[in-house]
Amino acid sequence: MKRSIAKRLALMFALAVLLIMSISATLLRCSLKQSLDEQMQNELVLRHSVLDPVLAKYDSPTFWVGLRQKLDGLTPADERVRYWILVDNPAFSYGGAMPDGQDWSKRADGLFTVDLPEKERPMMVLLKTIPAMGDRPELRFIVGLDSTPFRKTLNHFTKILILTSALGIGLVALLGYWIARFGLGPVRRLSRQANSLPPGDSKQRLDTEALPGELQELAVSFNGALARQEAAWCQLEGFNANVAHELRTPLTNLIGQTQVALAHGREVGELQDLLQSNLEELERMGTIVNDMLFLAGAESGQRATELSDVSLYEEASKTVEYLEPVLHDKQLGVEIQGDMRVCIDRRLFHRSLANLIQNAARYAVPESTIKVSLVGDGMQVEVRVSNAGAPIDSVHLERLFERFYRADAARARSDAHHGLGLSIVRAVASMHGGRVFAHSENGFNTFGFSLMNQAAP
Ligand SMILES: Nc1ncnc2c1ncn2[C@@H]1O[C@H](COP(=O)(O)OP(=O)(O)O)[C@@H](O)[C@H]1O
Ligand SMILES: [Mg+2]
Repeated sequence: MKRSIAKRLALMFALAVLLIMSISATLLRCSLKQSLDEQMQNELVLRHSVLDPVLAKYDSPTFWVGLRQKLDGLTPADERVRYWILVDNPAFSYGGAMPDGQDWSKRADGLFTVDLPEKERPMMVLLKTIPAMGDRPELRFIVGLDSTPFRKTLNHFTKILILTSALGIGLVALLGYWIARFGLGPVRRLSRQANSLPPGDSKQRLDTEALPGELQELAVSFNGALARQEAAWCQLEGFNANVAHELRTPLTNLIGQTQVALAHGREVGELQDLLQSNLEELERMGTIVNDMLFLAGAESGQRATELSDVSLYEEASKTVEYLEPVLHDKQLGVEIQGDMRVCIDRRLFHRSLANLIQNAARYAVPESTIKVSLVGDGMQVEVRVSNAGAPIDSVHLERLFERFYRADAARARSDAHHGLGLSIVRAVASMHGGRVFAHSENGFNTFGFSLMNQAAP
C-alpha cells in the first residue's frame, strides 16, 4: 500500500493525543485516589472523635451491655462500617476477633488496611488505644470502613477517563486526517497541473505563483528539471541535424563525382583519381562516425581502461613532435612546462592534447609560442594549452565543448574540422573523472582539461 501523508499525519496527531491523554488521565486518577483516601480517613477520625470519649468515660462491664447495643445500632446492615474492641478480658471486648497476623504496633498513626474474608476489598481501619480505668484494662478500639464503594467510584472514574480518551483520540485522528487532506489540497492541484502538461510542448512550466511557500521550492526544482530536459532535447535535436548536415556534404560529393564518372570518362587514370578522392571523403565520414561512437561511449559512462604510469612531460613532447608539420606552417613554437608521473590512458591523453594543440595552432598569431603547462598534485593534473589569439566571446566560450559547436561556423564547415575536437577532449577528461575549462584573457586563449590520477586511492 502507498504511504499517505494525510494518514501519517492523522496517526501522528492521534499518538500525540494518546500521550497527552495518558499523562493527564494518570494524574487525574492519582489525585482522585488521594482525595478518596483522605475522605475515608476523615470519616474514621470523625467516628473515633465521637466514640472515644464515651469508651474512656466508663469502666464497668454492666455499661458494656448498653455500649454493645449502641455499637450494633451504629453498624449498618451491609457492614460498610464496623467496630472492634480488642482486649484480653472478654467482658470488655466487641466485634469478635481480627484476622491473625496483624501487627498493630507497625504504624503510629493507627491506620491499617485489613483483609476480611467476607469482604471483596480490604477495610481501612483506624486504631486508637483507650487507657485503662478502674477495673477496665487498656482497650484497643478500632473503627473500620469498607473501601469497596470508594474503589468502585475510582474504577468508574477510570473507565470514563479511558472511554473519553479513546473517543478523543479517535476524533483527533479523524479530524487530523480531514485537516491534513484539506491542507494537502495544493499538492493535489500541483500534481493535476503537472499531469496536464501537454506532451511534446517542452516550453510548458508549472505555475509557481499561486503555490504556498513550501511547495514553491518543489515546483521551481521541477521546472528546473523541465528546463534541463528541454535543453537536452534541443541539443539532441540539434545534434541529429548536425550529424545529418556533416554527413550530407561528403555524401553529396561522393554521389556527384560518381555520377559524373559514370556518365563520361572511363580512363583508368581518371577512375583512379576518382577513387582516391572518394576514399578521402569516405575516410572523413569514417572519422566522424568513429568520433561519434567514441563520444557515445564516454557519455554512457565508459571509463579509461588501458592505464599506464607515464611522465606527462615525455608524453606531451611526443604529441608535439607528432604535430611538428602543423606547427611548422605558421612558424609556431611550443613550450612545455611542468612534469609529473600519473597513471592514465596515454592514447587518450595524446588524442585530447593533440586536439588542443591543433586548435591552438590554427588560431594562434603566426610566429608566436604555444604554452603547454602541466600542473597538479598526486591526485589530479591540469593540462592547459594557451595561445596568443583574438579574444573569444564569452557566449561561445561556454559552448565550445558541445558537439559540433564552432564559434566561426560559416568558415569551419568546409574544411576537415567538423567541430568534435573539444567534445572529445571533454569525453577524455570525464573518462578520467576530470573536467574541462576555457578562458580568454589578455590576448591569450587557454583551453584545458583535468585528469584524476587513476592510481590514486
Ligand atoms: N585556441 C582556440 N582559439 C580560438 N578558438 C578556438 C580555439 N580552440 C577552439 N576554438 C573554437 O572552438 C571551436 C570548436 O573546436 P573543436 O571542437 O576543436 O572543433 P573544430 O576544431 O573541428 O572546429 C572551434 O571551431 C573554434 O571556434
Ligand atoms: Mg579542433
